[in-house]
Amino acid sequence: MAESVIVVGVQWGDEGKGKIIDLLSQRSDYVVRAQGGNNAGHSIKVGDAEYKFHLVPSGALYPSNICLITGGTVIDLAVLKAEINSLQQAGINLSGRLKISSYAHVIMPYHKIFDMLYEKQKGKHAVGTTGKGIGPCYSDKALRIGFQLGEFLRLDQFKDKLEHILKIKNTELSLLFNHEPLVFSEVFDEYNHQIAFLRDFIFEDVESDLALALDNNKKVLFEGAHGTFLDTTYGTYPYVTSSHTLASGVSAGAGIGPTRISHVLGVVKAYTTRVGNGPLPSALSDLDSLNFMDNIAAREVGTTTGRNRRLGWFDAPLVRYAIGLNGIDSMAIMKLDILDQISKIKICVAYKLRDKIIKNPPSLTADWELVEPVYEELDGWKVDTSQVRSFDQLPDNAKKYINRLEELCECKVSIISIGPEREKTIIVNNILS
Ligand code: IMO
Ligand code: MG
Repeated sequence: MAESVIVVGVQWGDEGKGKIIDLLSQRSDYVVRAQGGNNAGHSIKVGDAEYKFHLVPSGALYPSNICLITGGTVIDLAVLKAEINSLQQAGINLSGRLKISSYAHVIMPYHKIFDMLYEKQKGKHAVGTTGKGIGPCYSDKALRIGFQLGEFLRLDQFKDKLEHILKIKNTELSLLFNHEPLVFSEVFDEYNHQIAFLRDFIFEDVESDLALALDNNKKVLFEGAHGTFLDTTYGTYPYVTSSHTLASGVSAGAGIGPTRISHVLGVVKAYTTRVGNGPLPSALSDLDSLNFMDNIAAREVGTTTGRNRRLGWFDAPLVRYAIGLNGIDSMAIMKLDILDQISKIKICVAYKLRDKIIKNPPSLTADWELVEPVYEELDGWKVDTSQVRSFDQLPDNAKKYINRLEELCECKVSIISIGPEREKTIIVNNILS
């Protein structure tokens, strides 16, 4: 069997998937982004340089990797163009090795407008989206009035379709929101301009290329975006994104069957964070916050929208549930170093709902809001772990913490990260040979 690994976020995104992809991609041949769009964001630190990714797979930093963006994604052409340009300017050449599927859907200007308008209309029920047009683009895909990327390469057909769809969208804009209509020629010209740059990166055979690579035992890394509880079905609905963020969604978005996957690696922060609205049962109390690093020191400011992430303790019922939803084989524990100076570290070990202990997160968000965390407290280690390079060198209390997480989540840890740099990593078990 080919060695193919899906890397998936286990909480609400921003777990550190980018660093893990970067780490594993030195041993892989292909790196694949299969769902979501530029609502995702990863920063990767190499030496003094920091690279920011939204759509291009983070494996791009290794020049021999082939990078694929497959059909399950949604693409903002201007953002993709800017990202390719900025990477190329930083010396990362993508031509000939970045391939984007003609199946991918395109985020249109009205998608971004609707994203904002719906959020505004929802008032206190707003999702807190990234405002990138993701939800409206996936909705149009489901309504069968979306644009596949490949359609932009057939100018006449694109022109006809845009004329027709823009009429629908302008009617919606004006009737629902009293918003001024978009001008056909402006939209058409702008997209034409973007596509002139991107056309060399668009291919019809991305998915069949991938299947062939797997047949030929190439090592393939799938970069899941967002996180398990942002999944449109199993997340904290409606405070979720609009794609399937689970490992199965990655497989569907990449156009390959689940039998082709040899390992699902769950990326888990050593505590919990969330941006946007929706429940966070293990949120730090005001008192806890005084003993926790602040957002800037903990590097918990969003890459995509610059918002402060909300902070919470490790939530074991949440992670254990995610392990099942994704079929996770092992976990990468990220940002352990952020806990270095905390004297007493809490772990949420169970939830209480209406005075009853429940094992799994509830299915309805109204119940999530009522859930009370049951905590266990462990002694911290109060030692800087950033120079540690093997599990044995970790302070005893840090080992105890990790072992307790494994026990509570019923899953083994294969990687521990103690800083953003590549070398600040402890490999407990190799994932790719
Ligand atoms: P990465 O890949 C964190 C959240 C948004 C919002 C909700 C819906 O960087 O881990 P959307 O714009 O997707 O319709 O917003 O989902 N969200 C993320 N939060 N990390 C992400 O991706 C996210 N992608 C979406 O904040 O609450
Ligand atoms: Mg992010």
